[in-house]
Amino acid sequence: MAGTGIDTGMLHKGAHSASYFDLSRSMGEDVEIVDFCIPCNPYFPTPEMFDELSRDLQKILKYYPSDSATITAKLASVLQLHPQTVAMANGSTELITWIDHLLIKESVAIPIPTFGRWTDQPLETGKRVDMFPLQERDGFRLDLEEYVRFIRDRGSRVAVVCNVNNPDGNYLPRRDVIRFMDALVDLDLVVIDESFIDFSDTEPYPSVGPDAVIRPNAVVLKSLGKNFGLHGIRFGYLMANPAIAARIGKALPKWNLNSLAEKVVFMISAHDTEYEESLRLLSRDRRMMAHELRRIPGLTVFPSQGNFILVKLPNEWSGVALRDYLVANHAVYTRECGNKLGMTSQFMRLVVRPSNDVDRLITGMLDYGRQWQGDSDLPPSFQDDPRSFRDDPLDGNWTGLTEQYNPHRVAVR
Ligand SMILES: Cc1ncc(COP(=O)(O)O)c(C=O)c1O
Repeated sequence: MAGTGIDTGMLHKGAHSASYFDLSRSMGEDVEIVDFCIPCNPYFPTPEMFDELSRDLQKILKYYPSDSATITAKLASVLQLHPQTVAMANGSTELITWIDHLLIKESVAIPIPTFGRWTDQPLETGKRVDMFPLQERDGFRLDLEEYVRFIRDRGSRVAVVCNVNNPDGNYLPRRDVIRFMDALVDLDLVVIDESFIDFSDTEPYPSVGPDAVIRPNAVVLKSLGKNFGLHGIRFGYLMANPAIAARIGKALPKWNLNSLAEKVVFMISAHDTEYEESLRLLSRDRRMMAHELRRIPGLTVFPSQGNFILVKLPNEWSGVALRDYLVANHAVYTRECGNKLGMTSQFMRLVVRPSNDVDRLITGMLDYGRQWQGDSDLPPSFQDDPRSFRDDPLDGNWTGLTEQYNPHRVAVR
């Protein structure tokens, strides 16, 4: 397959993944990247909603937005939340920054691996960060009772939980999170980061937002960029009791939110059916993608309730080399987790995408894996342990798989 012409050196810089814009500038306009790195909702907004946004773009860009209080009040009414319990900002990352500045005084506990800002932000401002390591042997599942014991042992004053957690995709049932908040009612603050919770499908009402607003020390975070598949707008909100919400709200600059965010917030109530449908399609794609990934011999696929799936690569594969290979040869952009605390480059977080894109990803991964095949038709993990593949009830056989994912069938678009 023809190379994409990208200088993969750009992928090796910095603690964060290269942005989509960096990548597309480097590859040229003609190459369409399939992005398995940034966890977007691929089904929302709908094309009709994008048309509406495009029609209004001139006005959106030319005029000042309303002040943040007006936009936040509208969001609260759409979500049927009490306006005094909501504060809205430029993405949940901005709220994490304000929570750190205003509400974390000396120490914070956080399970790792997780979203990097939860460790980096308080470290940058000189706080003690008590990291609670999640274990691979437990599938990175968080045991909340053990975590409470850890928080007591360390004397942490603030506790954070991400539900769903990034990058492992684990989900904690609502009743367990409520019990957790109650066990820590004496702390300065308990934060439940629900930036990915809308993508979970195990309970009809998974959020503890309504429970947080009636507690003295709890905050729930949400990312509208993630939910609505609009990361570029930068909007998120928190829910907390009126005293906490006002403390954060007052710290935020008056014209903090932009006109594009305002436009979407005012559009959204007319499109809740499409939003619900997008979540249903995403759950379907997640099941299908996990099933397809499990067909790659030697790959461990962790169950996920997010819009991404964590995988562990076969021993002889390298996450860095695979990421570079996929982007250079298949225009497929992935996230290796070597720069995440508590992870290694053996792990990749792959965003849930529609099946055509998954075909292209798996084609690329199998192509990459072929370098260890030698003269045999079998991948190395199959040679090591023939039963591991044959006994997998989900599967046929290797020949069928290579036919299905013929690398030459899918060209770079
Ligand atoms: C758990 C978690 N919280 C918050 C964020 C930040 O989201 P936003 O784009 O709204 O700033 C991320 C981003 O990946 C995340 O993984």
